[in-house]
Amino acid sequence: MGNRRRFTITAALPYANGPLHIGHIAGAYLSSDIYARFRRLQDHDVFFVCGSDEHGAAITMRAKKEGRSPQDIIDTYHLRNSKAFESIGISFDIFYRTSSDLHHKEAQAWFKAFYESNVFSVKTTQQLYDSSYNQFLADRYVKGTCPKCGYEEAYGDQCESCGSSLSPNELINPKSTLSGSKPELRKTSHWYLPLDKESDWLNTWLNTGVFEGSSLHDVKAWKKHVLGACNSWLEEGLQPRAITRDLDWGVDVPSEIEGSEGKKLYVWLDAPIGYVSATKAAEAQGIIEDWKPYWQDKDTELLHFIGKDNIVFHCIIFPAMLRHRDGYILPKNVPANEFLNLEGRKISTSRDWAVWVDTFLENNPSHVDALRYVLAANMPETKDAEFTWDDYQARVNNELVATIGNYVNRVLQLFHRFNEGRLGETKDYAVEYKTAMQDIDTAIEAFRFRDALQGMLQLARTGDKFLADNEPWKCFKTDPAEAQAMLNASMHQVARLAGVMQVFLPHAAHRLLEMINWSSPNWTILASKDKLLDLDHTIASFGLLFEKIDDSWIADQKQQLQNTLKSNPNAMAQKDEITYDAFQTMDLRVGKILEASRVPKTDKLIQMQVDVGFETRTIVSGIAEHFSEEELPGEMVQVLANLAPRKIRGVESNGMILLSETSEGKLYFVKPSADATPGDIVA
Ligand code: 2FM
Ligand code: ZN
Repeated sequence: MGNRRRFTITAALPYANGPLHIGHIAGAYLSSDIYARFRRLQDHDVFFVCGSDEHGAAITMRAKKEGRSPQDIIDTYHLRNSKAFESIGISFDIFYRTSSDLHHKEAQAWFKAFYESNVFSVKTTQQLYDSSYNQFLADRYVKGTCPKCGYEEAYGDQCESCGSSLSPNELINPKSTLSGSKPELRKTSHWYLPLDKESDWLNTWLNTGVFEGSSLHDVKAWKKHVLGACNSWLEEGLQPRAITRDLDWGVDVPSEIEGSEGKKLYVWLDAPIGYVSATKAAEAQGIIEDWKPYWQDKDTELLHFIGKDNIVFHCIIFPAMLRHRDGYILPKNVPANEFLNLEGRKISTSRDWAVWVDTFLENNPSHVDALRYVLAANMPETKDAEFTWDDYQARVNNELVATIGNYVNRVLQLFHRFNEGRLGETKDYAVEYKTAMQDIDTAIEAFRFRDALQGMLQLARTGDKFLADNEPWKCFKTDPAEAQAMLNASMHQVARLAGVMQVFLPHAAHRLLEMINWSSPNWTILASKDKLLDLDHTIASFGLLFEKIDDSWIADQKQQLQNTLKSNPNAMAQKDEITYDAFQTMDLRVGKILEASRVPKTDKLIQMQVDVGFETRTIVSGIAEHFSEEELPGEMVQVLANLAPRKIRGVESNGMILLSETSEGKLYFVKPSADATPGDIVA
C-alpha cells in the first residue's frame, strides 16, 4: 500500500493511585482508542501506548492515607486499571509500568544524557521543609492559597482552580499536607531544566509548526484551547523548572552523578519518558519489531492524547526534553480534551462522585458499547461536557437501539425472509454511503470524534431511508428479483456499518460481523466499494445488537449517586459554577452588630442593627437558637449588602449576614480578621 503512515499514539499514563472513572475514559482514552482503531482499519502502522504512572506524590500520598506501602498501592491499581481498560475495549498495544526496571534505566539514561550535554542548571535554594516528617515539601506535599486566584487549597505545583502552575514558595500561608503544620525553610540543591531558554523555538514551533526550518505541523489542526493554554504559558514567561526532588519514592538520580544521594527524578520528568520505555518494552516482548521508527523517524506522526490538565507537560516540557535528545521527533498534535462532569458536578474520586469503569461493567457487562457510545457522543473535545443518566437512556434508546439496532435487525429479518439469507444475482441498487464515510474520515483526521459518530449513525439512517423509499416487501410478490436486489444492497450497507462500528463500538461490531458471517476489509474498501459481500454469501444468524434501557435501571443508577450525596452532604452542597462577573455583582462588606433583639412572637428570628460603614441597617436573621441577643452586639461579621430588601414577619431586612455551619449543625459567623473595620469591601 502506498501512503502508509506511521502513528505513535500515546494516551496519558494514569496514576496508579485509584480506579478509573468515566471522566478518564472520555478524556484521553476513548479518543485515542477510536483514533488508533481507525488508523489500523486504514492499514497504517499504529503503535498505541499507555501504562501506569507509578511515581510522584500522587502515589505516596495515597499510600499514606490508606496505611499501605507505595508498592502495594501501585500493584493494586496497575492491575485494576489494566483490567478496566481491557473491559471497555481500549486497544493499547502495550500497557506498561513506570516502576519497571527498564523504565528506571531509560529515565536515568535520559537524565544522564541531559546532564552530560549540560542541558541542566543547578540551583541551591531555600525550600519548604516539614521537620516532623524530615521531608522537603514539593508539589502535592504542600497546600496553600494560590497567589493568582486566591483559591485556598492550591497545591505546590498547580492550582486546580485557575490552572496556574505554581512553585511551593509562591503559595500564601503554605501548610504541609503531611502534618498540617506550617513548614520551615531549608537549603537544598536541585537540577533545573532552564525552560526560559526554550521559549523562542517553542513559540515558533507551536504557533507556526516550523522547527529548524521544516514545517512539522499545521497549526490549524491544533485545538484552540490547547494552543491558548500554551500561549498563556509562553506569555507569562517560562521559568527554569526543578526536575529533581528530595523524596524516597521514584527514579533515582543516577548514582554516578555527584550530589545524587537522596534525589529522585521529578515525576513529570520520568512519566513521559514512560512512553518511550513502553515502546522499548514492546520491542523486547515482540509486539513490534523495532522501537526506533516510532520515536525517531521524521515521518512518524506522534500524537499525545491527554486531558487538559496535562497540556503544559506535553506541549512544553516534554517537547523541550525531546529536542535535547538526538534524533527524537516532536509531537505532531496534542489533541487534549477538556473535562467531563457527572450530573452537574465535577467528577471527584475523593468524594466518590463518579461512575467507576470496572464496577459499572462488572455489574452491567452488556453495556460496554453503550457506555463507549455515550462517552464518545458527549466527548469534551473543545469544552467541558456533561454526562447524565437521562441522556444515557435517551441516546441508547434513540440512537443505538432505534437507529442502528432496528435498522440492522430489519434488514437481517427481511433478508432471511425474502432472500433466504443468501446474496443472489442482483440488479444494481446502491444505498448512499460515500458522504457518511467521507465525513467520518474528515472528522477523525481533525480529532472531532463526536462528528465522526454522527457519520456512523448516518449510514444507518440512509439505509433506513432506502428501505422506506423502496419498500421491497411490497414488490416481493410482483417482482421478487427487484425486491431481492434492494435487500442485497441493504445487506452491503449493514456490512459497511459493521465495518465502521469496529472503530467506535468494537464489541457490537464483532457480534454483528459474526451474525453476518463476515470479516471486514480495510477502510479503503469500506469507503469505496459499493458491493462488499460476495455473491452467494450467506448470513449466519440474527439477534439484537443493543438492549433498550428501561426507566427502573436508570433510576437505580441515579439512586447510587444519590447515596453518595447522602453519605457526603458537603458534596451535595456544591453549586453550579458561576462566572467571575456574577460574583462581582455581590456587594460584600464587613459589618459590626450594634444592637440585637428577638423579633416578637418568633422562636428563631433576631433583628439586628448592623453598621456597614456607610450606614446602619436593620437585618433579620434566623439565628436565635444559636446565639442570645446579649452576646451579639460588638460581633464583627460579613454582610451581603446589596441583597434586595425583604419583609420578614413584618420587619424589613436589608441584607444578609454570612454564616457557616459545623458538621454538628452549629452556626457560626464567617469572621473578618481582627483589624477589619465596618465597611471594608470583601472581594
Ligand atoms: O495527570 C496524570 O494522571 C498523569 N499521571 C499523566 C502522566 S502523562 C505522561 F506524561 F506520562
Ligand atoms: Zn489559582
